[in-house]
Amino acid sequence: MISPLLLSLLATAAIAAPQHPVAKCRCRPSDNCWPSTKEWSALNKTINGNLVAVRPVASVCHQAEYNADACKVVTDNWKDSVWRSSQPGAGQWENWEAWPDRNESCYIESAQDTVCGQGRISLYSAIAQSASDIQHAVRFASRNNLRLAIKNTGHDFLGRSTAPQSLQILTHNMKDIKIVDDFVPKGSSKSEGPAITIGAGVQLPELYQAVAKRNRTVIAGSSHTVGAAGGYIQGGGHSPFGHWKGLASDNALEFQVVTADGTLLTANSHQNKDLFWALRGGGGGTFGVVTSVTLRTFEEVPVVVYNFNITTVAGDPRFWDAFAEWHAALPSINDGGGSGYYFGLPNMPVSATFSVSTIISLMMFPEKTSIAEVDTLYQPLAAKLQQIGGVQIANASIPFPTMSSTIFTMLIGGTSDSTGGTSMLASRLYSKDLMLSPDGPGRLANAFKSIKWNPFSEFIGHVVAGGAVAANGATVDSAVNPAWRKAISHLLFSRTWTAGTTPADQAAIIKNMTDVEIPILRSVEGENQMGAYLNEANGYEPGFQAAFWGANYPRLYSIKQKWDPKGLFISRKGVGSEDWDDAGLCRTSPK
Ligand SMILES: Cc1cc2nc3c(=O)[nH]c(=O)nc-3n(C[C@H](O)[C@H](O)[C@H](O)COP(=O)(O)OP(=O)(O)OC[C@H]3O[C@@H](n4cnc5c(N)ncnc54)[C@H](O)[C@@H]3O)c2cc1C
Ligand SMILES: *[C@@H]1O[C@H](CO)[C@@H](O)[C@H](O)[C@H]1NC(C)=O
Ligand SMILES: *[C@@H]1O[C@H](CO)[C@@H](O)[C@H](O)[C@H]1NC(C)=O
Ligand SMILES: *[C@@H]1O[C@H](CO)[C@@H](O)[C@H](O)[C@H]1NC(C)=O
Ligand SMILES: *[C@@H]1O[C@H](CO)[C@@H](O)[C@H](O)[C@H]1NC(C)=O
Ligand SMILES: *[C@@H]1O[C@H](CO)[C@@H](O)[C@H](O)[C@H]1NC(C)=O
Ligand SMILES: *[C@@H]1O[C@H](CO)[C@@H](O)[C@H](O)[C@H]1NC(C)=O
Repeated sequence: MISPLLLSLLATAAIAAPQHPVAKCRCRPSDNCWPSTKEWSALNKTINGNLVAVRPVASVCHQAEYNADACKVVTDNWKDSVWRSSQPGAGQWENWEAWPDRNESCYIESAQDTVCGQGRISLYSAIAQSASDIQHAVRFASRNNLRLAIKNTGHDFLGRSTAPQSLQILTHNMKDIKIVDDFVPKGSSKSEGPAITIGAGVQLPELYQAVAKRNRTVIAGSSHTVGAAGGYIQGGGHSPFGHWKGLASDNALEFQVVTADGTLLTANSHQNKDLFWALRGGGGGTFGVVTSVTLRTFEEVPVVVYNFNITTVAGDPRFWDAFAEWHAALPSINDGGGSGYYFGLPNMPVSATFSVSTIISLMMFPEKTSIAEVDTLYQPLAAKLQQIGGVQIANASIPFPTMSSTIFTMLIGGTSDSTGGTSMLASRLYSKDLMLSPDGPGRLANAFKSIKWNPFSEFIGHVVAGGAVAANGATVDSAVNPAWRKAISHLLFSRTWTAGTTPADQAAIIKNMTDVEIPILRSVEGENQMGAYLNEANGYEPGFQAAFWGANYPRLYSIKQKWDPKGLFISRKGVGSEDWDDAGLCRTSPK
């Protein structure tokens, strides 16, 4: 799990620890060191009155805090991800708002007379309007030894944007956007061409709209809520157009970032290069607070969108043969310019008495206008599926004049992402080599066959690598998991539970994921071969350092020690988080 190299590095770090003792735990509300009301007011003044005391959004639906009108607003918005992103007292996933270790939660589903526990919702929020607000909040947290949480949209699947007993920095309102034809990075004299600079709070639809207005496009993800400059790009950022131009972080030209000492600085390939390296793939909430990022933009191109469905009767073992053939076909579809997603439902009820197993794929082919050309790529697969027998196939395709119209029609139609529930993921990156090997697709099929598929439960395959993602490995030096350069599919599934599920039953679901299901996914290519995408992975991922960063981990760990020696920025399963307890409240090493 942990490489010998890493162990030796951790040992060195322990020896090099400062002589004067570092406070073992953060200052908590019950401690004498907790800032006084006067001190909080002083912070409030420095950030122009943008400090708020925070309760979980559903508090207005419980006990003494109950307020019928306010509770109705919260109830109406409970499943609106865009609303949730703007609320200091909300994350996106109820499980990461709660703090099961202390049995603290504040579910809207629970009865009015239930206690509303603060859980992992921050106690105060600095609702930042500017980089200077962020600098003040960072200095205050550092000076007072506080647990800091950075929330952009709250969408993190691993609980990185909520933290118990913390001060939150909410970046949501930082919506500045600037588009230029000739971006010259600070410290350089050479133009990098057309680019867009976005504030920390800009969300994906806002980014797409801004570039579309200028008849340009940009490499980013598929979501109404996710923030382009926060956890998304700092975790690497995959895109349905990855094959065309690479990962989002491959196209980042410059970051403005507030570091642990409160300095606002520029990180690009000319200055603070180590930070620039780490901010592209090293994970959010770890190296500083990014206040803005500059991304390359690209010219608009047409796109052919191709939908291909594979269906059998549920329970027919031939579904798994079809699953293997689909994966064996991915390299040629991807080499042919396709990237996108597939959704697998091994147990999908279509009526009270009849269920099917199905894979629904949606692939994008930029710079193509000919449906026939794309269809040709799928003909060998169609022939193989016919040979299996019992497999129904169907296809449909739509040519779009631009990437923007593809994005708004096919990828982010509607207004909100599905939210307001619980989610725990299991995921793995799988290599192109696996799909090209004679028995690889079959082994992958056997692994997925051995997972328990409840009615409607699904796996999602992301064909977001290959092409430019693979090629950029030779030209872009960044912290992203090197496995991305070999990957062809990022596969995940999720488990959920309801507000009524006891902490013990939740723990059992999580334990089965980490102890049984992840090992099944991991066994296909061997423990240290590929790993997982840190933004869409299990919140309790065993050996997360190797899984999320592979050989890059030791370098990331030392950059973390350089820029944040006291561990002000700790995010769950982030670089350096192994030195802290799960809540990030007390140091566990060096002892
Ligand atoms: C519906 C949906 C669709 C998605 N689609 C994609 C996709 O297409 N491609 C993809 O790669 N991922 C995708 N993701 C995963 C997404 O990248 C992660 O959830 C990511 O963590 C979201 O980042 P955020 O800043 O919006 O969220 P948050 O939860 O607010 O933040 C995530 C992490 O980044 C930190 N952070 C936030 N802002 C800053 C900042 N300014 N400076 C420093 N740290 C910061 C937080 O502290 C936290 O650690 C998707 C997720 C969802 C729910
Ligand atoms: C911060 O100041 C504003 C404006 O003066 C005030 O409305 C708000 O309640 C203050 N916040 C806190 C936590 O006291
Ligand atoms: C956990 O909290 C809930 C809601 O406040 C309560 O009903 C339940 O009894 C608690 N469980 C335990 C084990 O303390
Ligand atoms: C948009 O850009 C494309 C590609 O550069 C170009 O072909 C097209 O004419 C432009 N459209 C408009 C309206 O400017
Ligand atoms: C897609 O559908 C068209 C029209 O029904 C058909 O001619 C073609 O062979 C199909 N392609 C594949 C790969 O199945
Ligand atoms: C594929 O399945 C989806 C979901 O059932 C459906 O909406 C779509 O129309 C199907 N495509 C074809 C070509 O039948
Ligand atoms: C654990 O996961 C496996 C694979 O999905 C499943 O078959 C098994 O039933 C699960 N066990 C429990 C106790 O949930």
